[in-house]
Amino acid sequence: VHQPIAILDSGVGGLTVAKEIRRQLPQEPIVYFGDTARAPYGPRPAEEVARFTDQVIDYLLELKPKMVVIACNTATAVALESARKRLSIPVVGVIHPGARAAIKMTRNHIVGVIGTEGTIRSGAYTAALSQLSPGIQVVSLACPLFVPIVEKGVYGSPEVQPVVVQSLAPMRRFPIDCLILGCTHYPYLAPVISKVMGPEVSLISSAEETAREVSTILCHKGLLAGGWAKPVDQYFCSGDPHIFRRIAESLLQEEIKVTPVPWEVLNNM
Ligand code: DGL
Repeated sequence: VHQPIAILDSGVGGLTVAKEIRRQLPQEPIVYFGDTARAPYGPRPAEEVARFTDQVIDYLLELKPKMVVIACNTATAVALESARKRLSIPVVGVIHPGARAAIKMTRNHIVGVIGTEGTIRSGAYTAALSQLSPGIQVVSLACPLFVPIVEKGVYGSPEVQPVVVQSLAPMRRFPIDCLILGCTHYPYLAPVISKVMGPEVSLISSAEETAREVSTILCHKGLLAGGWAKPVDQYFCSGDPHIFRRIAESLLQEEIKVTPVPWEVLNNM
């Protein structure tokens, strides 16, 4: 089935999931939307994040996707259930896959979760982890300074390390053996986060497990793309397309075209 997989995020974070979907499913065309004009979603009230998410989904639905991936934890926490009820195509979020990956990895059953204020406030990770493994101990921490660093494209700069050290200090007091990167922007900072947390803490990104879930659902529903034609991916963003393209190209290691979509267009969806 040659319809695209629609992937969305507040910005460049969901590209970490898109990259893994392309790796595991190279035949699948992707349409990606980064709502960069309205990022970060993390500090916004839940109702507003839910409304923005619905608007971006409605924009992507015009491209006739066969599946929607909400590649943003903040949006998954508040909008996944309603999107599943509203749409007739499968909708995948990133929180359950992240929780599953952590449960596979942990040995001492003490798991850390970092995410945006919205994600941590929602308690969605604690709920997902406890549902899968009731005895698990979860230590949660919001890191509101991380997303703006990634959206500005300065995640490789040396000034980032002190910010990460300070933000993660409360987490380092707990004997966690794995840390869920509960925000799709955080894998950009993984080298620094890993250095700060030390070698005994494994970092978990939901990208790999989410891509596996996408693959499983498409296969199960008979929706996988066949053939050998290389799919053409499409990228949209509501803010500055140049900075989005620079970050995307450095992550995906290829040239892409980005179509700007004014956020007023989304507001009228
Ligand atoms: N990448 C998003 C997430 O996974 C949200 C970042 C933000 O806009 O605050 O939560």
